[in-house]
Amino acid sequence: MSISYLAKEIAESPTLSLNEKARLMRVKGDPVIHLGAGEPKNRAPIAALLSAAAKLKEGDIKYTPTEGTPSLRKAIIRYYEEYYNRPDVKPENIIVSNGAKQALFNLLFSILNPQDEVVILAPYWVSYPEMVKMVNGMPVIVKAEDGSFQPTMEEIDQYVTGSTRAIIVNSPNNPSGEIYSEEFVAQLVDYCEKKGIYYISDDIYHQLVFDGIKVPSPYDYTNKSLEDTRIISINGVSKLYGMTGFRIGWCVAPKKLTKVMINVQAQTTSTASLVLQAAAEGALTGVQSVVQGLSQMLQNNRDVMMQELRAFSGVKITPPKGTFYCLPDFSAYNKNSVELCRFLLEKAWVVTVPGKEFGMEGYLRLSICGSIKDIKQGVERIKWAIDPDSPNELFIGDKKLVRDWL
Ligand SMILES: Cc1ncc(COP(=O)(O)O)c(C=O)c1O
Repeated sequence: MSISYLAKEIAESPTLSLNEKARLMRVKGDPVIHLGAGEPKNRAPIAALLSAAAKLKEGDIKYTPTEGTPSLRKAIIRYYEEYYNRPDVKPENIIVSNGAKQALFNLLFSILNPQDEVVILAPYWVSYPEMVKMVNGMPVIVKAEDGSFQPTMEEIDQYVTGSTRAIIVNSPNNPSGEIYSEEFVAQLVDYCEKKGIYYISDDIYHQLVFDGIKVPSPYDYTNKSLEDTRIISINGVSKLYGMTGFRIGWCVAPKKLTKVMINVQAQTTSTASLVLQAAAEGALTGVQSVVQGLSQMLQNNRDVMMQELRAFSGVKITPPKGTFYCLPDFSAYNKNSVELCRFLLEKAWVVTVPGKEFGMEGYLRLSICGSIKDIKQGVERIKWAIDPDSPNELFIGDKKLVRDWL
């Protein structure tokens, strides 16, 4: 079979392959606990469902403009007025896509020439380096030397070259839950604008924050108009409203660049589905207490997760300030996170995600999206599996797990 060199380079999604393994184990009857999920268990907001249902009832389901329906783009404009304090976003600055993932892909495809470099701050979302490679670009990873989740400007500067076209910034951050400081965001915006580098702000979790923290938005630190700034914003309804399956995301960028992205999308997937765009519009214009409710649930779960993780003497943990995840350091138990994940799934029936995939070897990404019961039992099982002082057996319902390792 002939496969392109480029396609061969693209790694399998680690989360999806772990999910598949866990699914097969569940089919077999193993009571697997999922601490790997990137989606909460909520029902979609009622406003989203009603809006989609109204479209279905009309029955006139056709293509929409490639860039998205006028009414959804209007709702996005209002969203940027309210939550980004940017009243200058125009319909021509917006392209709606099949999820933030496609929005990001369109963007990278539109700004990179072969061998152009994109700086990615570690820890990073697994898809960034793969997407950069898919458009023949070069991912350049910058990791904080002090082991924190936020590299310094000096560290970033060391990796920026004449070929750097963009820096991808994801705050609140998947996988760490970190929120970059105001000072850092301000400096990075200034740096990108001076150097003519795109500041790609992946804002997919930007309202899912804890303890009343305000997420510094890069737009707050530029005086430039939307047409002149280097800031590009990616967002969507997947995480904010727990609407992952609706596949609606968008990009806000200068008009000229948006036009190019519309051409790119027009030749690939065309429009996002009319019905799902209607659902996204419903979510954006409906009651926003849904988002606060989700954040509150995540914050409670975060508190439980932190309490449970404190039961490990060797695990170092920086509490997340937002998102669906935390990223504890398990290197005291095993420096190889892929091996540790496999071990935990096979021996303790718990799904975790290896930190290696996010540029953080020795760490595990644990999700706080599930139930309190799952968090408590999941962490208890992990502790049982890796703590040498644990009892030899663990009962899960009528099943018995036995330690057949040291
Ligand atoms: C940081 C980050 N950006 C983008 C996405 C993709 O979002 P969407 O479901 O809208 O494609 C994810 C999903 O996990 C994510 O974690």
